[in-house]
Amino acid sequence: MYKNQTILTHMSFKGGSSKTTLNLNFVMEFCKIYKDKKVLFIDSDPQSNSSIFLLGEEVINSDIYTLKDGLSENIPLEKLIMKSPLSNFKNLDLIPSNINMVTLELILNTKAGKEYTLLNYLTNDKNINVLSNYDLIVFDLNPAISVLNTNCMICCTDIIPIINYGCYSTITGYNLLKNTYQDIKKALRIEKDDLKKPIITKFEKKENNKIKMWLEYAENKNILKNTIKQTMRKSVHYENAVLYNEPISTYLENRNIKSDIIDEIKLIIDEYIKENIITI
Ligand SMILES: Nc1ncnc2c1ncn2[C@@H]1O[C@H](COP(=O)(O)OP(=O)(O)OP(=O)(O)O)[C@@H](O)[C@H]1O
Ligand SMILES: [Mg+2]
Repeated sequence: MYKNQTILTHMSFKGGSSKTTLNLNFVMEFCKIYKDKKVLFIDSDPQSNSSIFLLGEEVINSDIYTLKDGLSENIPLEKLIMKSPLSNFKNLDLIPSNINMVTLELILNTKAGKEYTLLNYLTNDKNINVLSNYDLIVFDLNPAISVLNTNCMICCTDIIPIINYGCYSTITGYNLLKNTYQDIKKALRIEKDDLKKPIITKFEKKENNKIKMWLEYAENKNILKNTIKQTMRKSVHYENAVLYNEPISTYLENRNIKSDIIDEIKLIIDEYIKENIITI
């Protein structure tokens, strides 16, 4: 919305495809490397997985503001934002989610111009000033073609689709995302080039017949020629790093774990800078 401001999400319509794991690893590594950049993480998923990772299970029944309060009661953005909730990341703010978010979809459906509710809210006179403080804003979405997700995607400058290595349904999901989102934008008369190259996650360096068949399938669908060059490998360390709220590089260094993945997220960030997704 502002020059040089990136609003992004990693998206797939397939559940469990690493949206949350990648969004959180990405944000934590980014905050570690670029300490002078202000980052806002918005948990827009009523499942609240990222909020649980960041704040603990207690968040579910707690009396916190979520995006729902902003969109249904017009509570100012400033009030929704938790400032630096993690002591390790002074530059990371959060709009958390909890179970109350479940009814937001119904509420949005009653609004005139329902797909624009979030954009109108974020750009009203007061909220736009708060939003403009951030260099990077990351949404964590659930795997649905919902009004809530449409609201968030409309606000994004960059939507990076996720394909899981060896997984057929994430390829189908990628094509669905491309086609459906294109239809939505056309119907809403929105013209923006926000859907970027897909990123491959859960990558494994193994060759077997199953993988060979998947690679052939992906090749036939023209998927592999134009992806983000850096992949995210399949590794349990990614989930553990998130559990400990540590950037993957710090997590591995602190435990003396030797792993090739130590630089992967940094290299993904570098790719996004090269692709002009992020401006540094
Ligand atoms: N690179 C990875 N290597 C190994 N496991 C991974 C990786 N990325 C994600 N996972 C695992 O896959 C599972 C699903 O990941 P995650 O919750 O990030 O998916 P999601 O797309 O956010 O799911 P949902 O659609 O429910 O929001 C988790 O158990 C997570 O630890
Ligand atoms: Mg998730």
